[in-house]
Amino acid sequence: VDTGRGRGGHLKFDAIDPVSRSVDNMSVPEGYDWHAIIRWGDPLFANSPEFDSKKQSAKSQAMQFGYNCDYLDIIADKYSGRTGVLVANHEYSNEDMMFDAAWFVANTDEARRIAMNSHGLSVVEIKRKKHDQRWTYVVGGERNRRITASTPFAVDGPAAGSDLLKTVADPTGKLVLGTLNNCAGGTTPWGTVLSGEENFDQYFQGRGTAEEARYGIGTGATDRGWELTDPRFGLNHAGYENEANRFGWIVEIDPQNPDSTPVKHTSLGRFKHEGATVRIAKNGKAVAYSGDDSRFEYIYKFISKDTYRKNDRRHNMTLLNEGDLYVAKFAGNSPASEFDGSGQVPSDGAFDGTGQWLPLVRNGKSMVEGMSVDEVLVYTRLAADKAGATKMDRPEDVEPSPVSGKVYVALTNNTDRGKDGKEGATEQNPRIANRDGHVLEMTEAGNDATSTRFTWNILLVAGDPRVNDSTYFSGYPTDKVSPISCPDNLAFDSAGNLWISTDGAPGVIGLSDALHKVSLHGKDRGRVEQFLAVPTGAETCGPVVHDKDNSVFVSVQHPGEGGSFAQPASLFPDFIKSPQSAGKGQFYGPRPSVVQVFKQGKGNNGNNGNGKG
Ligand code: FEO
Ligand code: CA
Ligand code: CA
Ligand code: CA
Repeated sequence: VDTGRGRGGHLKFDAIDPVSRSVDNMSVPEGYDWHAIIRWGDPLFANSPEFDSKKQSAKSQAMQFGYNCDYLDIIADKYSGRTGVLVANHEYSNEDMMFDAAWFVANTDEARRIAMNSHGLSVVEIKRKKHDQRWTYVVGGERNRRITASTPFAVDGPAAGSDLLKTVADPTGKLVLGTLNNCAGGTTPWGTVLSGEENFDQYFQGRGTAEEARYGIGTGATDRGWELTDPRFGLNHAGYENEANRFGWIVEIDPQNPDSTPVKHTSLGRFKHEGATVRIAKNGKAVAYSGDDSRFEYIYKFISKDTYRKNDRRHNMTLLNEGDLYVAKFAGNSPASEFDGSGQVPSDGAFDGTGQWLPLVRNGKSMVEGMSVDEVLVYTRLAADKAGATKMDRPEDVEPSPVSGKVYVALTNNTDRGKDGKEGATEQNPRIANRDGHVLEMTEAGNDATSTRFTWNILLVAGDPRVNDSTYFSGYPTDKVSPISCPDNLAFDSAGNLWISTDGAPGVIGLSDALHKVSLHGKDRGRVEQFLAVPTGAETCGPVVHDKDNSVFVSVQHPGEGGSFAQPASLFPDFIKSPQSAGKGQFYGPRPSVVQVFKQGKGNNGNNGNGKG
């Protein structure tokens, strides 16, 4: 039920002006301040070494905060607004910025192992003082944990134990070492964290099979060269032909239990998962939405077989083991001739239509001709091709509003639409060479998350309206919005406003990547207000909006991208002025970090008010 509460939120701010991509700092609204809670290399455990850019090792990195933080949640403890855990993904490593070039050449294997250990996730306890707004992290906290490219994961669901998942190192097909390219995610209603294994193809040298090609795995040596350090990354190495099939899953971790074994859920299918987010349907089923972030890929949803039980965490942690998998097919309601690729609004005044969820697996059976359940789940892209799903402009976050139940989809961009005989503009993807992306709003039939029918419309067609006449903000005046490009991650505040972080705006509109608040209701629907901008070269990831607590958190990923260890392009977050002036634990260069933006002078009221429902 749309409660219509989305008319403000508790976080009051005046939108900041757009920020040039060359600005090397956080930009926040007037009356707000920011601080970095934790940075790449910060020690997590009592025995972790202090970060030292000149004395890195695989062993130390495994005990320190990883690189390129992405998905983020700040989970305050239930009965305390002053303790909690921070959970962050570490999507990938930037070796050029992490290592001295000469050292890398002389220590390539160790550097690769450092890079492997800079991947994965971190769980770290946080705390704050009574009259201080700022969360700080706890070295040696009881729940602190690093998950890396070698942490054991259990595989569950129908494809666990499949021949397609077996290797010489794991003849069971049920135990995988590590997680890779963890991009976005979602915190479940039962308090675990889901994380998407996204661009896993880049880590593997393939054999040239059709399945590998469909997932983007090439036959040449990889840029990272991990196949030279650890044979499992070479699919042409005897016994490791299936290693890549063991990545591309949704993983679930329990941030409250550092001894728990994280899980890869095969029931949600294998593709370049941006992330996954869960809504509990009226009948108690857990429904997980997920996007496959590549050009012309699909949007999926999973419906659990079993139902959610309040306060039964152990049971709820099995919900994603078994259920039905669907993929989305869209139809527009305006004549196809009205979509010439320019992005102009059709004559009925809206980009909108209907859609259906096509079954891939239902009641434990494959719904795709010629493919077994194992094959559908391991080669999900091929199954969705056969089912006739709709090719979208790079689906990133797909996230249901905890207030209205409507599902929002960030389609980040697709510069290939309409190019070289590829599919052209449609009502759901109305621009050819779509550089700025758009955001869809889907409404399940009857607002029932288990429905196989939905309606949809485009909430906004992104861009800088000052220079682009194909932007659309649901009718909101384009001269009164903040420019926005390349939507990626989504979040909601407690009033149901949508928050959108961006990845790629600098290269498209010349502005730093940002976090925006978007109003969804009434006359303000489509109003985009920029809350922050991240430093030069960075992307904004993992927004968390605790509006009742006057705080917003983001991961600042790859600050200074394009620079090098010797010549950093960013000095965020500590702005050390020279290599010589870097003290103990400091670094002359950028460090991907988790940042808290908070309202000045508010103190904290012990409120753990989380806008994520
Ligand atoms: Fe890693 Fe789809 O962004
Ligand atoms: Ca229409
Ligand atoms: Ca992303
Ligand atoms: Ca992205």
